Amino acid sequence: MQLLEISDLVVDHDPGTRERLPVRRGDVVARLTAAGDRSGARIAAGLACDDAGHLDPLAVDRRLVAVHTELQRLSEELRLGDRIAELLGPLLAVIRAAGSADGPLRVVDVGCGLGYLVRWLAASGVLGPDVDLVGVDFNAALVREAERLARAEGLPCRFVRGDAFALDEPATVYVSTGVLHHFRGSDLDAFFAAQATRGTAAFCHFDIAATGLAPIGAWVFHRARMRDPLGRHDGVMSARRAHDDDTLLTAAAHADGLVPLMYEPRGRSNPFCTTLRPVIGVRPELLSPLRAALGPGPSGRLVGRADAEAAVRREASAGGGAG
Ligand SMILES: C[S@@+](CC[C@H](N)C(=O)[O-])C[C@H]1O[C@@H](n2cnc3c(N)ncnc32)[C@H](O)[C@@H]1O
Repeated sequence: MQLLEISDLVVDHDPGTRERLPVRRGDVVARLTAAGDRSGARIAAGLACDDAGHLDPLAVDRRLVAVHTELQRLSEELRLGDRIAELLGPLLAVIRAAGSADGPLRVVDVGCGLGYLVRWLAASGVLGPDVDLVGVDFNAALVREAERLARAEGLPCRFVRGDAFALDEPATVYVSTGVLHHFRGSDLDAFFAAQATRGTAAFCHFDIAATGLAPIGAWVFHRARMRDPLGRHDGVMSARRAHDDDTLLTAAAHADGLVPLMYEPRGRSNPFCTTLRPVIGVRPELLSPLRAALGPGPSGRLVGRADAEAAVRREASAGGGAG
């Protein structure tokens, strides 16, 4: 059975202009039906559409904002802000110390949705005042709501509608939460390849850990805490679509010039506790300082492929530098 999320099917953009394109409800229902997903097809069949059978874009946007608002509970429950800050803090410290950033330090949240992560980082101030916090999403309705929420709290962060990898100003660090499983196969490779840009020192992408327990945990959480059937459907699907560590490390190797690593890979983590964990990429010269900054416990949970790590060590000893 092909695993599909309804929220991926109900919005379409022109790949060149990024203009919103009309979506036929019948096409969405047909795709879910062909995938053997009868409950998904039923939910899609209930979405509002016009006489020509096109989904009402305003109703779709309202629904997606509502679902993402519920989804924020998951980020709060999993203490996502704290967990990312625990890694981003040391990472930015070593980037600052190495003078690796061209211009101001900029953290870009790829596919920020309602911007929970960026708003959390801005509200806590934990990364320091010299860090420009930017959330980027293709979806205009989500970006508008993220801006509204940030403005209501007077938070020092900003949101941009568009492609996170096509910003005028380079990201020092790309981050994301719950985005990776939306990309499959060569699209996942391309997601990482796009990060090998001028100025990028690192990436840190959190997504659902592909454990046997993940779909069960997601089902229980979404039953207990989410009301919207679309959100419940997609939440459980997300867990079923989660990439395993090997897939992520292989794809992350497409980010040229950045060493791919998993934090809390399977085998080094408790599947009852590890719900989300990041794949990380760093410039080779930052790896050794990052391990030192994290300290022995967290550093031991940061694991790369033996060959990639050995190459970094060889290069460092040949150059006499840190690695
Ligand atoms: C499931 S949402 C994740 C929302 C959010 N990160 C959260 O945790 O609630 C995935 C989002 O990624 C966005 N997206 C994917 N690739 C992107 C890119 N290159 N630039 C901007 N947005 C992107 C999509 O528009 C979609 O809204």
